[in-house]
Amino acid sequence: MTDTAFEPRRIVVTGGCGFIGSNFVHHVVREHPGVHVTVLDKLTYAGNPGNIAGLPADRVELVVGDICDEGLVDRLVADADAVVHYAAESHNDNSIADPSPFLETNVRGTYALIEACRRHDVRYHHVSTDEVYGDLPLDDPARFTEETPYRPSSPYSSTKAASDMLVRAWVRTFGLAATISNCSNNYGPYQHVEKFIPRQITNLIDGVRPRLYGDGRNVRDWIHTEDHSSAVWCILTRGRIGETYLIGADGERDNLAVLREILRAFGRPEDDFDWVRDRPGHDRRYAIDSSKLRRELGWEPRHTDFASGLAETIEWYRENEPWWRPAKEATEARYRAQGQ
Ligand code: NAD
Ligand code: DAU
Repeated sequence: MTDTAFEPRRIVVTGGCGFIGSNFVHHVVREHPGVHVTVLDKLTYAGNPGNIAGLPADRVELVVGDICDEGLVDRLVADADAVVHYAAESHNDNSIADPSPFLETNVRGTYALIEACRRHDVRYHHVSTDEVYGDLPLDDPARFTEETPYRPSSPYSSTKAASDMLVRAWVRTFGLAATISNCSNNYGPYQHVEKFIPRQITNLIDGVRPRLYGDGRNVRDWIHTEDHSSAVWCILTRGRIGETYLIGADGERDNLAVLREILRAFGRPEDDFDWVRDRPGHDRRYAIDSSKLRRELGWEPRHTDFASGLAETIEWYRENEPWWRPAKEATEARYRAQGQ
C-alpha cells in the first residue's frame, strides 16, 4: 500500500452510463462527497443517461461523446486529476457477430485516453476483465492470479487484453501513472438485458422460457457490482502505480445452478428452460484469486450473499420494466438470428 492515499477531486469516468460505470458514479457521489465526476459516454445501445439521472448537477456532468475523439478526450483530461476507464463494447456474443466496434472502442479508445493522460500527467485507472486470462478447466481448483499468462478466447476478450497491454507499455515506456484491475462477472441492477442473468429474468417476466448455452456447466465467478465499485475506488486511491489487481468475491457457480435459482424465484419447475446452440469458443470456467487486493489494500467484498443479491436483482427488474423494456425486443431479435 502507498503511504499517502491519492485524493482525486475531479475525475473523468468513461462509460458512466453503462451498467458498471453508472454504479461507480453512484458509489463516488454517495461515499466521496468532495469529488466531481465528468461522465464521458457515447450512449451506444448499452448506455442509458437514466442510469445517472437525479444525481446532483454540481457533482456530476454528462458529456455525450466518443472516447475515440482525441480532441474531446484531450479537453476533458486536461481538466481532471484522474480518469477511470469503463467505456467498452462489453458483450462476447456481439463481438462474435461483429468484432469491428470492439477494436475501435476497446483498443483505439484506450489509446486516446492513455495518450491524453500521458500528455497532461493525469492518473489513469483501467477497468478490465478476468477474461483476458482465457479459461480454466472444470475439474481443477486453480484460480487466476496477477501472474496468470494472457490467453484470451473471444474478439471481446482479445481487445480487452490488447488494451491492458497498451496500458502496461505506457507505464513502462512513458511512466504513465496507471493501475489496472481485472474483475470477474458482475451482477446487479441496471445490467443490459443481453447479459445472462437479466436476459433470463426478463424472459420469465415475459412468460418466455430461459435459454441455456451448451451443456450449462460453464462456471462464472459472480460479484455484486457494488463490490466492484468499492474495489476500483480502493485501487485508484491506494493502489501501487503500475500494478494489476484482480477483483473477485469467491462467487463461483455454474450457469445451470444460477438459472435454477432464478427459476425457483419465479416458482417455475427447474427444467423449464430451453437448451440452445453453444457460444463459439465458449470459455469453460473463470475463477479469481483476489488475495493481492485484500492483503495489500485491505479490500473486502460486502455483498457476498448471492441468493439475496439475486433476489434483490430480480425484484429490481420486476419494478423497473420501463428501464429494460425498450431494449428487450431488439436484443431477442439478435439472439434469434444467432440461433440462441
Ligand atoms: P456496458 O456495455 O453495460 O456499458 C458500456 C458503456 O460504455 C455504455 O454506457 C456505452 O454507451 C459506453 N461506450 C461504449 N463505447 C463507447 C465509446 N466509444 N465512447 C464512449 N462511451 C462508450 O458495460 P459494463 O458491463 O458496464 O462494463 C464496463 C466495463 O467493465 C468494461 O470495460 C468491461 O470490459 C468491464 N468489465 C465488465 C464485467 C461484467 O461482468 N460486465 C466484468 C469485468 C470487467
Ligand atoms: O468475466 C467478466 C465478463 O463477464 C465481462 O468481461 C463481460 O463484459 C461480461 O459480459 C461477462 O462475460 P460473459 O460472457 O461471462 O457473460 P454473459 O452474461 O454473456 O454470459 C454468462 C454465461 O452465461 C456464459 O457462460 C454464457 C451463458 N449464457 C449467456 C446468455 C446471454 C447462457 O447460457 N445463455 C444466455 O442466454
